[in-house]
This record gives sequence, C-alpha cells and structure tokens, in this order.
Amino acid sequence: MELVHTVEEVRARHEAARAAGRKVGLVPTMGYLHDGHRSLMVAAAAECAFVTVTIFVNPLQFGPNEDLDAYPRDLEGDLALAEGAGVSLVFAPSVQEMYPDGEVLTSVRVRGLADQLEGASRPGHFDGVATVVSKLFSIAGPCRAYFGEKDYQQLQIVTRMARDLSMPVEVVPCATVREPNGLARSSRNAYLSDGQREAAGVLKRALDAGVAAIEAGERRTDAVERRMAEVVATEDQAALDYARVVDAATLETRDVLNGTVRLLIAARVGPARLIDNVGAVAR
Ligand code: PAJ
Repeated sequence: MELVHTVEEVRARHEAARAAGRKVGLVPTMGYLHDGHRSLMVAAAAECAFVTVTIFVNPLQFGPNEDLDAYPRDLEGDLALAEGAGVSLVFAPSVQEMYPDGEVLTSVRVRGLADQLEGASRPGHFDGVATVVSKLFSIAGPCRAYFGEKDYQQLQIVTRMARDLSMPVEVVPCATVREPNGLARSSRNAYLSDGQREAAGVLKRALDAGVAAIEAGERRTDAVERRMAEVVATEDQAALDYARVVDAATLETRDVLNGTVRLLIAARVGPARLIDNVGAVAR
C-alpha cells in the first residue's frame, strides 16, 4: 500500500492501474476509519484490483458552528486499517492541495435531494459534499465508488450527481455496519462516553419501531413518525432533531405511505449529532 498527498500522483497511479487492466475502486472518507469504512474497502477489494481510499476532512461541508476543528483524526491508525482491508493507495491531500485557490467559485448542487432532512438542519452541507465528491471523481477517473447507506441522503445525492453529469463512475451502495446495541458505526461516536454510546442505541430502536408499525399495517406517515419520536423520548440523554419517513428514491414526503420508503432519524446525544436510517416497504 502506498500513501500519496497530491492529485497528480493519484492520476498517475490510476492511469497505470487501468492500463494494466485493473479496475479501480474508490472509497471516499474523512478518516478516523472504523468498521463501517472497512466494509466499504472490503467490498471494493472484492470487485476491483486497485482500491484507493481518500482521507480528507472537507471544510466545504461543515457549517460555521460545526465540528470541523474538533473532527477526530488518526492517520497512522487509518493507514493500518486500510492496509489490512486490502487497499492499494491512500490519498490524503492537504486543504491547499484540494483547494489551491482558497475560495472555490464552482459548487455542485443536486436540487430537490439536498434541501430537506440533513440539508434543512445543515444548510449548505450537501453542496460541500457534492462539490468535493465531484472533485474526487474527477481526480480518480473511471472507477467504481463505494458509499455507505449509513448516510442515505448523501448516497442518493452522489448517485444522482454522477448520473446527471455523466461521470464515468458507478456508485455502489453498501449496508450500514452497527455496534451490538444497534448504534451505527461513525467517526463521531468518538465524542460519546460509554453511557452515551449505550443511550445512542435508541436511534436504531426508534427506526425498528417505525418499521414494525409499517409492517403491522400503519400507512399514515405522521403516525409512524410519531412512533419513532416516542421511542427517542424514552431516552433522556437523546434530543430528537427529526424522525421522518420519505419516498426511498425521491426523499419526498407523502401523507400516505406507499411502496419503498426510507425511515430517517437525527438526534443529539451528549456532544454528538447522530444520524441513522433503515428501509421498509409499504404494500
Ligand atoms: P465519512 O463520514 O468518513 O464516511 C465515508 C463513507 O463511509 C461514506 O460513504 C459513509 O456512508 C460510509 N460509512 C460511514 N459509517 C458507516 C457505517 N457504519 N456503515 C457503512 N458505511 C459507513 O461521508 C463522508 O465521510 C463524507 O461526506 C465524504 C463522502 C467523504 C465527502 O467528504
């Protein structure tokens, strides 16, 4: 495994890999890697002979009062995890390398998918994500890119962006990796004490209760959302931001549930803002 810091080096390695007939797999991350990231690398390594992990804490996707400076970092640990997962190349650029002109004048905005849910709570967040991911796709060239369902709205946005802009990238979704109590693995779990980590299991329990209500025949969106909120309210260490059920493809709200839907939740537990989601089918 090789560690590089420049765009030029990534381009050269990917061109050489493709020239040798090796398929390129791309796993974009912000580092502080855990088992969720690892599952993406393992999926990529199973399908691609050359796997690149990018590690870049992207300032563009953090709001002014968010955790950009506090975001956990551990390059040495990340390199060990990536190497063990079969990664060929780690690209860890500086902010200067990614944004050499300082301000970026070009921004990618995926209208319709970026404004609700996380987009409503974190204005501008998904423009920052779409912009950096389009840069990473442009740097990587033709490849398969692996993204987690853990960040469901991000996955939909990146998938749509690649289609809309004819990017030579196939976006591959990967299932959410969880801790034994159901808490989705996240770099931000590092902010939690043991007690808070246990309490944070309430997000998955709320999602499961929502799915159970749908499976029992509930079709009113607001009733399912209320059920999820009730479960979160049983945990005093958790403060709900939103509990929503939307169309799985468009992320639009319907009064009556029909077809493939996605249940999404965001809550603050102690110092961390956590998100999670699951799918369900309302027939
Ligand atoms: P980050 O939060 O580091 O996540 C990198 C990738 O790992 C994303 O595709 C995310 O969905 C996936 N992931 C995180 N936790 C996971 C889990 N528990 N199970 C499965 N996959 C998981 O998402 C970002 O970084 C950034 O927004 C990025 C796309 C890199 C753009 O800056």
